[in-house]
Amino acid sequence: MTSITCIDDLRQLARRRVPRAFFDYADRGSYSEQTLRANREDLQRLKLRQRVLVDVSERDLSTSIIGEPASLPFSLAPIGLCGMQHGDGEILSARAAQEAGIPFTLSTMSICSIEDVAAAVDKPFWFQLYVMRDRGFVRALVERAIAAKCSALVLTLDLQVLGQRHADVKNGMTVPPEIRIKNVIDIMTKPGWAISVLRGRRKNFGNLAGHVKGMDSVNSLAHWIAGQFDPALNWKDVEWIRSIWPSKLILKGILDVEDARLAAKSGASALVVSNHGGRQLDGAPSTISALPKIVDAVGSEIEVMFDGGIRTGQDVLRALALGARSCMIGRAYIYGLGAAGQAGVAKAIDILRQELDVTMALTGTRRVAEIDGRIVVDDAR
Ligand code: GLV
Repeated sequence: MTSITCIDDLRQLARRRVPRAFFDYADRGSYSEQTLRANREDLQRLKLRQRVLVDVSERDLSTSIIGEPASLPFSLAPIGLCGMQHGDGEILSARAAQEAGIPFTLSTMSICSIEDVAAAVDKPFWFQLYVMRDRGFVRALVERAIAAKCSALVLTLDLQVLGQRHADVKNGMTVPPEIRIKNVIDIMTKPGWAISVLRGRRKNFGNLAGHVKGMDSVNSLAHWIAGQFDPALNWKDVEWIRSIWPSKLILKGILDVEDARLAAKSGASALVVSNHGGRQLDGAPSTISALPKIVDAVGSEIEVMFDGGIRTGQDVLRALALGARSCMIGRAYIYGLGAAGQAGVAKAIDILRQELDVTMALTGTRRVAEIDGRIVVDDAR
């Protein structure tokens, strides 16, 4: 992988190797993709201050995330269907994260189950939870995460109804892929993918199949979310989850200061400033534009994490400069997974690590704790 020097190289490779329906599922956003684009554009608008003649010979990228030591100030975000980017994708990503010394988050909508991942790694991972109408099943999922010794529960708040992703509808995205002539031709041109997925442990949603009625026959994500996810989700449910989950709780999908204030009072350890990677409310502000107000309002009460649009180490630095304590990396690692499995995820993490390291040096920064608003050019904020 010597010719791979940046996340975009991994994206190009993933585009060639992963069937279109699954590549687009990860890559695209909802409706007109305004928010998807704004996440990237607003990050790039933020200019970094070049500082010189600061001794940066000793640099340290390590930090702690919700009290857990981490070698880098980012974690891997929960992403559905990793096992459709590459066979056993969740296990491979969890292993790459573990080797790099950063947290991995397993999505409810994963292909490998909680138990599959727990059996494949030594260190605790995080589990992301969607609240479904069937609270008995939600409780069972939480109990499975406890049994698997997950160290944090990431409760996603911004997907109780699905923002339409036009690409998924047009591609007829289903799990496993439907035997349609278009799909078959596409898969025939991606034999490496087909072999890896055929060899993978599962071909369906590992946390749900066999547990949720009708799950084995309903394979369209949109259909399933519409039928199962609970649009009545509210702060009382967060209290309930808090009462059945004994460990750290992370609330993901906060974009508004008023919601951030409620999150800070909820007993959660952290919140994630997120618009679901521009996949939900199209027209919502970029996460980087929402971040400073949220940090000002609640940064001293609750740990603030950030996601949305991070493709470089420079982006990680920008988010930290505006007050995030750590970032969640989504598409950047999924491209690595689709491009080359575990080695690709490791490559994505390493690219971000190297970019962050060099960028810290060139901004005169030695440690993660030193990163603050002084690193960005004032009038760019
Ligand atoms: C699920 O979390 C999705 O964004 O598709």
